[in-house]
Amino acid sequence: MKDRIIKDILKEYDELRLREKEALIKREEEVYTKIPEMKTLRHELIDLMGTAYRDIIHDPQKVTSTIPYLESKVKTLREKEEKLLLDHGFPIDYLLPRYRCPICKDTGYVGDMIKERCKCLNQRILIDTYHLSDMQDLNTQNFDTFDANIFPNICPEGSKITQREYMLNLKDLLLNYVDIFPNNEKKTILFTGKTGLGKTFMLNCVAKAIMDKGYTVMRITSYKLFDRLFYSSLKDKDESMTLLTYLFDVDVLIIDDLGTETRRNNYTQEDLFNILNERMLTEKHTFLSTNLSLADIQDRYSDRIASRLFDTSNTMLIKFIGQDLRIIKKSRQTS
Ligand SMILES: Nc1ncnc2c1ncn2[C@@H]1O[C@H](COP(=O)(O)OP(=O)(O)O)[C@@H](O)[C@H]1O
Ligand SMILES: [Mg+2]
Repeated sequence: MKDRIIKDILKEYDELRLREKEALIKREEEVYTKIPEMKTLRHELIDLMGTAYRDIIHDPQKVTSTIPYLESKVKTLREKEEKLLLDHGFPIDYLLPRYRCPICKDTGYVGDMIKERCKCLNQRILIDTYHLSDMQDLNTQNFDTFDANIFPNICPEGSKITQREYMLNLKDLLLNYVDIFPNNEKKTILFTGKTGLGKTFMLNCVAKAIMDKGYTVMRITSYKLFDRLFYSSLKDKDESMTLLTYLFDVDVLIIDDLGTETRRNNYTQEDLFNILNERMLTEKHTFLSTNLSLADIQDRYSDRIASRLFDTSNTMLIKFIGQDLRIIKKSRQTS
């Protein structure tokens, strides 16, 4: 079953590389039509490399002098290329391959001598095996699609800055968090606030940005997570252990909407405690969002859980404030 899944995923990776190869050829043709000089430069580069390699094969001693010479020539030609691209309104990286995963270049494997699965491949296997992670929104909800204008430019009660300014500050703070990830001092982030304030959107932004850095991320609603754990523990102890192992292992676990899970007495409490505790002990990152207030969390979960979540030496508590964006959106549509 798992072999089949891996085979299918690798086939998809192959297709991805092939599509990008074709797309790159198209981009090259487009550039050559608009900037004929570019083609000459490219040929110069290829000739240069050909000559240098021939020289080295004939006289291996030349490697020490040829390589630095070649490198400096290539650098000059590349700079010329980049200038031409920019002068003609193309992005500087227009002629570079675009990989979904820059780490393994969409091959699924890393390492020169000993090949290991890239994190992106492990992540895919995880998603396809357990149908557990909800990643589909990440293409539409990320830092690139973040729209500050959706937030009202008025100060929520008790705040000196507007909701928009507040969210822009938060965005900066989280961009910085992603920048230094995984070396953050605080490994847990808890978003609190009423519904419709942008918590899920922001979790998705962070999830996508961290995945793009090559780390494994699992994003799931609390409801689905604890349902899966509950039913798999009824069905088969081994399966629930494997599931828990994945939940312990993934670089970032994101639990959206804590508090919406079905209450099953000790089951949920135990699982939640185990997940939080294990991940904190192994210094893994866990991000959560909830509509519950801190007092509600205290009421609903055990002291052990609350003390883990509210330990501000490891948790960044972030409050979302202001007006419900869904209501604003609706009133804009009807007015
Ligand atoms: N930064 C943002 N840019 C664009 N749209 C946003 C942003 N934040 C939230 N939204 C939109 O506002 C609505 C509510 O956001 P959501 O993240 O679901 O709120 P919450 O999780 O706090 O209930 C959604 O339709 C979402 O797409
Ligand atoms: Mg939400």
